[in-house]
Amino acid sequence: MTHQFPTLSEAQKRELHETALRIVSPGKGILAADESVGSMAKRLAQVGVENTEQNRRQYRQILFSADDRINNCIGGIIFFHETLYQHSDNGVPFVKMSRDRGILVGVKVDKGVVPLAGTCGETTTQGLDGLSERCAQYKKDGALFAKWRCVLKISDTNPSKLAITENANVLARYSSICQQHGIVPIIEPEILPDGDHDLKRCQYVTEKVLAAVYKAMSDHHVYLEGTLLKPNMVTPGHSCSTKYSPEEVAMASLTALRRTVPPAVTGELWFSHRNKSNLQRQRTVSVYLPVPVGVAFLSGGQSEEEASVHLNAINNCPLAKPWILTFSFGRALQASALRAWRGHKENEKAATEQFIKRAEVNSLACQGKYTGGDNCGEAHQCNYGSCYAY
Ligand code: 13P
Repeated sequence: MTHQFPTLSEAQKRELHETALRIVSPGKGILAADESVGSMAKRLAQVGVENTEQNRRQYRQILFSADDRINNCIGGIIFFHETLYQHSDNGVPFVKMSRDRGILVGVKVDKGVVPLAGTCGETTTQGLDGLSERCAQYKKDGALFAKWRCVLKISDTNPSKLAITENANVLARYSSICQQHGIVPIIEPEILPDGDHDLKRCQYVTEKVLAAVYKAMSDHHVYLEGTLLKPNMVTPGHSCSTKYSPEEVAMASLTALRRTVPPAVTGELWFSHRNKSNLQRQRTVSVYLPVPVGVAFLSGGQSEEEASVHLNAINNCPLAKPWILTFSFGRALQASALRAWRGHKENEKAATEQFIKRAEVNSLACQGKYTGGDNCGEAHQCNYGSCYAY
C-alpha cells in the first residue's frame, strides 16, 4: 500500500489551482497554437505557404495580435517551443504580448508519439527525459501551464490494455513532474476519430481510457485540483454511416465524463477569514470553497462550426455538470484564419478577424449561449486528417 508522503505544500497547491482557474474562467477557453514544425508543414502546405521559421512566426503573429475582443474569450495559449521564444514584427516577445493582456502562457512539453512494439499500430508519447529541467526553464520563461498529448485508436481490437495503461501512466508521470515546478498540466488522452465505429463504441472507449487516466493520477499523487483535462468529445468515427444530433453527442460526452472524471477536478479554493466566535485571538481559519475548474475539449478534426455547436450542446445538456466545460481547440479556432491568410500580407487583417470570430463563437458556446448562425461556408469545412499528429 502506498503512503501519503508530502508532495506539494499548501502554497504550491493554491498556486496551481488558481492558475487552472484563471485559464478557464467563465467564457474563456484555450487556443492550442502548439503545432510542431512538422504539423505546421502540413497546415501551411494546405494554403500554399512554405514551412519556414519566418512564415510560422508571421502566422502566429496573426493570431496573437488579435485585438481586445479576444481577451474575454481566450484564457490561455499553448505555444510550441519555437514560438515561445519568437517576437512580433515590432520586437515584442510573443510571451509578453500574451501575458500583458492577461492570457496565460502554456507550452507543449511532449516530444511526440512513438510506436508501441507488438501492438496493432498503437503508440505512446515520449518526452519524460529532461522534462523536469525543461519545466524549470519554461516556468522562468513565462509558462504557467503545459500540455502533453497521448493518442489512442479505436478498432475492433484497439485500444489494447497495454496502450491504455502505458498512456495513462505517462500522462500521470508528466503531470507529477509539472506540478513540482508550479506548472499546471493539461492532460490530453486523445482518442482519434479514425474509423467507422458508432457513438456508443466511442463512449465506451472514452470511459475506459479516462478511468485508467484517473487511476494513474491517483497512483502518482497528482493534485487533481491543479490539473485540466483535455479530452475528445464523444463522437462517432469519421467513417460511421450513422449521424447523431448535437444533443446525442453532448449526452454521450457528459455521461462518459460523469462516470470517470472525479469531481475533485472541480477544485476547491482556499480562502481565509476571521473566526468571528473567537475575535480576541483573531484566529485565521482556512475554509474550502468549491470553485469549478475545467475540462477543455479538443476539436479533433471536427469542422469549426460542428465543434462549437457540440460544445454548446454539452453546456446545455440536462445532466449535472460539476466542471467548467470549455474548449482547447487547435483546428477549430484556426482553420478559417489560415485559409483567409494564404501567406499574403494584405490578407492578415481578414485572417485575424476570422480567428476573433471563432474565439467569440466558442466563448458563447462554452457558456451554452451560442445560437448558431454560420450555416454555410468556411466554418463548415472538415478539418479531419487520419492519424492526426500534432
Ligand atoms: P485540435 O483542436 O485541432 O484537435 O487540436 C487540439 C490539440 O491541442 C491537439 O493536441
